[in-house]
Amino acid sequence: MHDQNQTPLYDALIHHMKQDPITFHVPGHKFGKVWPNKGLESFNSILSIDATEIHGLDDLHSPEGVIAEAQDLTSRYFGSDESFFLVNGSTTGNIAMILAICQRGDTIIVQRNSHQSVLHGIELAGAFPVFISPEYEVETGRYSKLSAESVQHAITMYPEAKAVCLTYPDYFGRTYDLNRVVETIHAHNLPVLVDEAHGVHFQLGDPFPTSALRSGADVVVQSAHKMAPAMTMSSYLHCQKDRFPVFKLKHYLKLLQSSSPSYPLMASLDLARYFLAQQTEDELRSTLAFIHEVREIFKKATSQWEVKPLSVYDDPLKMTLETREVPGFEIAQVLENLNIYPELATSNQVLITFGLSPHLDAELLKQRLDDVDSQLKNKEKRATIKIEQPSFPKIQTLDISYSDLEDSLSEWADWSKAVGYVSAEDVIPYPPGIPLLMKGERISNHHRKQIQSLLGQGARFQNERIGEGVRVVKGELS
Ligand SMILES: Cc1ncc(COP(=O)(O)O)c(C=O)c1O
Repeated sequence: MHDQNQTPLYDALIHHMKQDPITFHVPGHKFGKVWPNKGLESFNSILSIDATEIHGLDDLHSPEGVIAEAQDLTSRYFGSDESFFLVNGSTTGNIAMILAICQRGDTIIVQRNSHQSVLHGIELAGAFPVFISPEYEVETGRYSKLSAESVQHAITMYPEAKAVCLTYPDYFGRTYDLNRVVETIHAHNLPVLVDEAHGVHFQLGDPFPTSALRSGADVVVQSAHKMAPAMTMSSYLHCQKDRFPVFKLKHYLKLLQSSSPSYPLMASLDLARYFLAQQTEDELRSTLAFIHEVREIFKKATSQWEVKPLSVYDDPLKMTLETREVPGFEIAQVLENLNIYPELATSNQVLITFGLSPHLDAELLKQRLDDVDSQLKNKEKRATIKIEQPSFPKIQTLDISYSDLEDSLSEWADWSKAVGYVSAEDVIPYPPGIPLLMKGERISNHHRKQIQSLLGQGARFQNERIGEGVRVVKGELS
């Protein structure tokens, strides 16, 4: 059965619900019959398909029925040898793919601006990461371009590497020439693992950038929930078998994923693949026209930001507002006060993400933005404040390896004392969840200034007491 009109898992759940089943199994809400009245109205329709592994509904960890069919349709749509449903987001996929390829002490080449889950996978594997940093692009105002040359350089320096792990696109939807990067890596017969969390819709083709699978990647993880219509935490993992041990991946997915995976999440993955496969040119055209209209509204709303133009390397479902004088965090706050919620803010940029159909009333947006110019004009101007951009060495390793960190003690250090010590924690502004300072990395004055300047501008961190200091490795002063 390869008919992309089919939604086997979703259909099986609906069929089961229509039988009005008498249930003596978990979950305890018994398809919504045991539930506080409060909240029932909101939850009821989801509870009616919140099933468990009963006859006819298959088992994610040993799929032979409707889940196998749904995953098979997904694999055929995306063009992989095998695809897997993930119910704990791309976080699980990134960790599982790294554990499947790296043993303790193995070297892996990895993009420095990776999401924390990639680093967590490497830490759990006890592997030795070699970080490669993308280059600065004036067009984006960020370190966003990974070149084949820097990947080649890292492989020449570390020929023992077991794989290369990339992030494509970045959070802002920016891509690079992945075909060339993959060719370079495959010339050394190394597998290419790609965190494509933000690029599930690239499968639709033009005008979206080339997808990682089409560029030849061996393993690709996609948060279906980020850019396609799927429920939060629903992701795909696709792989090609030539260079990648799929049996090991299955083992780690079993270890990492719940033994009671959510059927609403899995059914939403079935429906998201169906939605993508059914997209017509007309539908896509109308989405793009809608995005164009919204971009124009933002352009006209104020001169306090610039709507960054798009190039072939950009995802049209993302829009970056670059701030002129008011920090991005404050712009985001002003927008939130107007009941407009952006995806993310950095010191100098605000990110807006669109969905795959016109999803808001343009007139309402215009009305809400009516006041934004005057509100921003009242903000303190900080054009003279230098914005600290995260920049990383081109090739970098940790100053203390993950295995050695396991055996070391840590202590608290105020910022006045922390510089020169090795950090015992990842320091992560969230979003985007990319560590500015990594566990195992020596703390420089630049790190300290960058973190303090971001805090001063209103960035959120997941670290406790980060305004005061950081946990460092005891006794490891340079
Ligand atoms: C680049 C990147 N990779 C992975 C993840 C984790 O994805 P998920 O939220 O699906 O676990 C994120 C989340 O923001 C991300 O931005």
